[in-house]
Amino acid sequence: MADNVRHPRHVAIIMDGNGRWAKERGLPRTMGHRRGVEAVRQAVRTARELNIEYLTLFAFSSENWRRPADEVGELLRLLKFFIRRDLADLHREGVRVRVIGEREGLPADVRNLLEEAEQLTIANDRNTLLIAFNYGARDEIARAMRRIAEKLVSGETSVESVTPELLDAHLDTAGIPDPDLIIRTSGELRLSNFLLWQAAYSEFSFIPCYWPDFDGKVFAEAVREYSMRDRRFGGLSREIAS
Ligand code: IPE
Ligand code: IPE
Ligand code: MG
Repeated sequence: MADNVRHPRHVAIIMDGNGRWAKERGLPRTMGHRRGVEAVRQAVRTARELNIEYLTLFAFSSENWRRPADEVGELLRLLKFFIRRDLADLHREGVRVRVIGEREGLPADVRNLLEEAEQLTIANDRNTLLIAFNYGARDEIARAMRRIAEKLVSGETSVESVTPELLDAHLDTAGIPDPDLIIRTSGELRLSNFLLWQAAYSEFSFIPCYWPDFDGKVFAEAVREYSMRDRRFGGLSREIAS
């Protein structure tokens, strides 16, 4: 029983360090991103093996448009490549794909592919893969607030009913449990606008390896280390309370 409580239902990963991985090898940054796609496949496989119900991968932030156009183009191309190549396998393995982030502003072919992935896998319930693409937590919260404001103006919602639960229900992650564990690779110690609301009581693991080097062993070790932690949610530790 204790093991179940300590097993993460939802792991979210900030996949960072592709550029530095490539630089260390004298390669262009785009090569790091290409290798990063292989690490994505492995992470999805490992999440399934470890019985992690929800895996969220931060693939492109709302601020990543600030990068040079050719790098942005390569990241968009790799997203399409990944979905085209892996969607059928994911579907066969019972993985539901959901995408969080702002769709407006993405090229039509990318939007169509994301839509196709969500529609094809909508009835799958074994595992869920959340792809955070053109995602920024402040943007997500602002979009949720906008939808709530519209309901307030139209009278569909009352001021009193604006609660944390209502905001939850209007976020891109509606219906998905908050991440138990947030992993960031590459050694950076920041959230970079990822899941700010949902991370209120998440545990963090900052791993000093670059994303292309993140394999099943590193993933399993992070989950094992998480399971030793004592989450209190503002209360008392289970040992003290019992
Ligand atoms: C992560 O690697 C991929 C994205 C942010 C899209 P980076 O490209 O940020 O790699 P570093 O941090 O520059 O090494
Ligand atoms: C965060 O990484 C975004 C993704 C992993 C997609 P960044 O590399 O963009 O973050 P900063 O700029 O170092 O904070
Ligand atoms: Mg980075």
